[in-house]
Amino acid sequence: MNILVTGGLGYIGSHLVSKLIDKKFSIFIIDNLNNSKRSTYKILKKINPNIKGFKKIDLKNKKKLLNYFKKKKIDIVIHMAGLKSVSESYSNVKKYYNNNILGFVNLIETMQKSKIQKLIFSSSASVYAPKISSAIKEDDQLQINSIYGFTKKTIEDIIFLKSKSLRLNYIILRYFNPAGCHQNGLLGENPKGTPNNLYPYIGDIIKKRRKYLKVYGNDYKTKDGTGARDYIHIDDLVDTHLKSLQRLFKYKNIQEVFNVGCGKSITVKAVINSFKKFCNFKIKFKYYPRRYGDLDKIYTNNNKAKKILQWRPEKNLKDIALSTFKYYNK
Ligand code: NAD
Ligand code: UFG
Repeated sequence: MNILVTGGLGYIGSHLVSKLIDKKFSIFIIDNLNNSKRSTYKILKKINPNIKGFKKIDLKNKKKLLNYFKKKKIDIVIHMAGLKSVSESYSNVKKYYNNNILGFVNLIETMQKSKIQKLIFSSSASVYAPKISSAIKEDDQLQINSIYGFTKKTIEDIIFLKSKSLRLNYIILRYFNPAGCHQNGLLGENPKGTPNNLYPYIGDIIKKRRKYLKVYGNDYKTKDGTGARDYIHIDDLVDTHLKSLQRLFKYKNIQEVFNVGCGKSITVKAVINSFKKFCNFKIKFKYYPRRYGDLDKIYTNNNKAKKILQWRPEKNLKDIALSTFKYYNK
């Protein structure tokens, strides 16, 4: 089975590719290296010498995309490529619109021309209306809270609207907060520039590139006042893709959406403390004002994924801290 992973050299993509190759799938990767590095491909090749190939292609370049699809026999696309910074999306609407939405339109039209009818899409918890009193379920209210969220919701809508005419079988995975690194210590989150997200920023502190963490807000409606998220270990997240692949190849007419998280809300302070407790590493921090657009708390009810995908998260905050520390403390 030939699988194309768009954005396959990114944080989540590279972990997924490594696992898929372990499982003997035949994998193609395209990525424009906007937020990833060619060296990640070298690492993947070192871990899995059977890897088929990486091609630098920007989804915005439809001609190149079409040519690529003509040359390969692809059975399913896992679409992970995209820009993902909520804050940047406010200041650069056009960039997010062009890259995420128009890039996806090019992809789906190319899939249509190439008669590829199976898709897994990396969506996000950012499509939901904020809800802090309880866990979010798939049928909860959707709401656009950021330009980034708008791009994710628009892509979902295009999938819903086009699925009939394309006879598309799809699984949309709405990730909560992926975290942690590969157990071999070779793969991790390695963004370009200053990290926006909590764990890669902590990674910079472990690497001694930065002195302290800026904790954005200590007056949220959470246990200790710091923002709370549903951190899910990258290995558990990757497993939902394997389960989704199995499902898409086993059954016909699959058109489903799943939340992917561990089902617990964990504060920034709890993350900081986990490094002290499990890695004996003290993270210095200072409180800063709230970051624009941040929510108090967001976590998922993961029963649907557990029941239908026959999946359950097996790792916890300790595994996330240990694998993160191992990757950055090199
Ligand atoms: P990432 O930035 O590490 O990986 C995305 C990859 O896509 C990068 O390698 C980048 O170079 C590539 N890319 C971007 N635009 C492209 C384009 N036009 N053409 C080709 N390649 C392009 O991000 P990630 O954390 O691995 O996220 C993967 C996907 O999951 C993204 O779509 C993101 O929105 C989604 N997601 C991530 C999180 C998270 O917290 N990491 C949460 C929810 C959803
Ligand atoms: N935080 C800090 N300091 C930092 C970075 C983050 O205090 O330097 C805090 C944030 O304020 C928030 C928590 O850590 O309370 C998590 O922030 P992240 O930036 O790591 O994650 P977000 O929840 O803001 O966003 C992530 C992805 C989005 C995705 C969303 C889905 O970046 O793409 O999860 O829940 F949409």
